[in-house]
Amino acid sequence: MLLEIEDARTGYGRLEVLHGVSLNVAEGEIITVLGPNGTGKTTLMRLLSGVVPLWSGRVRFDGSDLLKATPEKRASLGLCQLPEGRGIFQTLTVGENLHLGTASRRASAARVRADRDRVLGVFPELAGRLTASASSLSGGQQQMLALARAMMGRPRLLLIDELSFGLAPRIVHDLFEVVRELRDDGVTFLIVEQQASALRVSDRTYVMRNGRNELDRASADLLASDELVASYLR
Ligand SMILES: Nc1ncnc2c1ncn2[C@@H]1O[C@H](COP(=O)(O)OP(=O)(O)OP(=O)(O)O)[C@@H](O)[C@H]1O
Ligand SMILES: [Mg+2]
Repeated sequence: MLLEIEDARTGYGRLEVLHGVSLNVAEGEIITVLGPNGTGKTTLMRLLSGVVPLWSGRVRFDGSDLLKATPEKRASLGLCQLPEGRGIFQTLTVGENLHLGTASRRASAARVRADRDRVLGVFPELAGRLTASASSLSGGQQQMLALARAMMGRPRLLLIDELSFGLAPRIVHDLFEVVRELRDDGVTFLIVEQQASALRVSDRTYVMRNGRNELDRASADLLASDELVASYLR
């Protein structure tokens, strides 16, 4: 397993938000964590990126204890997070944003150029806009830029907080197609979402409610059954 989370508890101050979350992500999988507002999805992402501490339980990445690693170390291990609300720099250009994605790795200029060409091949809409300000992009294009920037760091595991946030279904569909392409390129994904549309692209889905994971199913099975409606949309 690339990522193993065992009975994780955490929260803010005295407020416990995650009451024992357990999940696994194998190399090459696309995993969704589906859950309603306020259930602790972003908190789970923050736990993995090191913003909130683990109160009890275990988190292992590639076989070693992730909690011993500083946030910087986690990035260099290949754990990369796309924060909620995209987190791109509005005042910088598209090209500058992409370049920032390489900050966590030591790579030659030639290597960075090659990676940039590869990434722009996946996102042709960005290729013609390298010198444009990021703020001039549409919401969908900004989300593409956030994904493209993350790819510049050559992540092993990409954590995505609400890829679909604020976007039209058609654009969400296109972004998920890109996620599939990137998986074929060797990236593993853990995507937290409140929209069930993510199930169409993912291999497995965990349904989370009130700080606990309730279900773990193959996404296709979940889509085909009534369990999703019973567990999540009730
Ligand atoms: N910085 C914080 N300080 C205190 N409480 C917080 C903080 N961030 C989140 N919470 C609380 O933790 C709980 C879970 O929040 P979280 O942001 O993880 O939910 P979420 O599943 O990501 O929701 P959404 O779908 O709305 O993004 C909520 O009750 C929220 O009020
Ligand atoms: Mg959230």
